[in-house]
Amino acid sequence: MGEKEETILRAENIKRSYTIGKTTLDVLKGVSLSVDAGETLSIMGESGSGKSTLLHVLGGLDTPKDGVVRFNGHSVYGMSSQRRARFRAENVGYVFQSFHLLPELDIVENVALPAMAQRSRGDAKARAKELLVEVGLGERVGHRPQELSGGEQQRVAIARALMNDPDIIFCDEPTGNLDSRTGEKVLNYLFQLVEARRHTLVLVTHSQDVASRCSRELFLKDGLLDNQGKMNEDIFR
Ligand SMILES: Nc1ncnc2c1ncn2[C@@H]1O[C@H](COP(=O)(O)OP(=O)(O)O)[C@@H](O)[C@H]1O
Ligand SMILES: [Mg+2]
Repeated sequence: MGEKEETILRAENIKRSYTIGKTTLDVLKGVSLSVDAGETLSIMGESGSGKSTLLHVLGGLDTPKDGVVRFNGHSVYGMSSQRRARFRAENVGYVFQSFHLLPELDIVENVALPAMAQRSRGDAKARAKELLVEVGLGERVGHRPQELSGGEQQRVAIARALMNDPDIIFCDEPTGNLDSRTGEKVLNYLFQLVEARRHTLVLVTHSQDVASRCSRELFLKDGLLDNQGKMNEDIFR
């Protein structure tokens, strides 16, 4: 196979605003980007700049007011919500700042959960255990999330994100709730797994240290990426 780069994700002119009462806040003002298969992309921005909003739109979780998101050429928000849910389950992994693990399940069950629809219970659990070993939690398989440290819980969430062998993984401030040493360890696991499997990664963060781990860095400011504002001005002048 050749090494030709293929676009896996493309966003065109994404707009998203929030309206509270009579006030409308334009958070995304026409964001465009494309992501190559296998690359790791970070989007950095200050708190409140719209990083989570953008990640949710890119990840098929939040319909934009305007614009198109294409995954392997297919319009994500052109799908029925049912198909979009299936698309997410089969192709996308998510890692959030606050882990989002289920307290009533042990960590094997938490990791296995996304695959329960596609695989037998036994199969899903066996793969979940393998993934937990890969994130250094082989000794903790019978435990529940609340019995683990924050860094360990985020490693469980990483294993869960990889459960269905997703084409693309979205991370929202994955180390935002962790001290810097623990965060570094979590990122080491994340990048080791993602790079070994050539997953595509899109990560948003306010931290330059975290952003620098990615192969490409973009910056979100005033509702646009990098110099898109200037580009638009030039175009419309
Ligand atoms: N559901 C919502 N309703 C109203 N305003 C929101 C909502 N979600 C986010 N915002 C506002 O939109 C802006 C961008 O939020 P967010 O995308 O969470 O930024 P970031 O992740 O960069 O901190 C913020 O000013 C935030 O207060
Ligand atoms: Mg955020």
